[in-house]
Amino acid sequence: MAIVIGAKPESGYDDPMGLMADCHRRIERFLETLRVVAQNASGRELSEEEARAVGTALIYFRDAAPRHTADEEDSLFPRMRAAASCDVISTLTQISELDADHRRAAMLHQSTDSMFNRWLQQRKLAPNESQQLQADLRTLCQIYKKHIAVEESIVFPLARRILNSSVQLAMGEEMKCRRGIRSGAEPAVRKQSSGEHASGQQKPATA
Ligand SMILES: [Fe+2]
Ligand SMILES: [Fe+2]
Repeated sequence: MAIVIGAKPESGYDDPMGLMADCHRRIERFLETLRVVAQNASGRELSEEEARAVGTALIYFRDAAPRHTADEEDSLFPRMRAAASCDVISTLTQISELDADHRRAAMLHQSTDSMFNRWLQQRKLAPNESQQLQADLRTLCQIYKKHIAVEESIVFPLARRILNSSVQLAMGEEMKCRRGIRSGAEPAVRKQSSGEHASGQQKPATA
């Protein structure tokens, strides 16, 4: 398996915000794969390599990415809402907007998934479908760019500050559970080489 020299090691479940940021890097990589293929292969059949890369990215967004959304919506945001500090109150509006982004992105992922699957099965997309697919992917890129920036520059640092270590460990346990990992078992993300995520050629096991 390929090794990416200098790649940042994946975070562990004792650092839930670090793990969520790692998930963001995968979201960015798989989304970029879809965007580039939709643009470069417009009007023709996908090559084997493109079809494989698209298949891996679609599986990621279908199976693994929703766990990241659940990490935030079920494990992180409720704990931040429960911590009634002034800092949190001013961030609550932004958290509500993040929830709305999740809903909007999920709908766009559904439509891009169907269009890519039609492309894979019928070998070609009609020009209007191809344009719609590219537009939806551009919108997804815009949503994630702003969304991830808010989470990484405001929400995660604040969460690290206001949630004590036992709360963060409890979040990590919930994240493990969501991925079917037993307590004390080695995190799945650490079993994979960085090359798996960089190449996008293997089925991702985590969000
Ligand atoms: Fe999010
Ligand atoms: Fe996120």
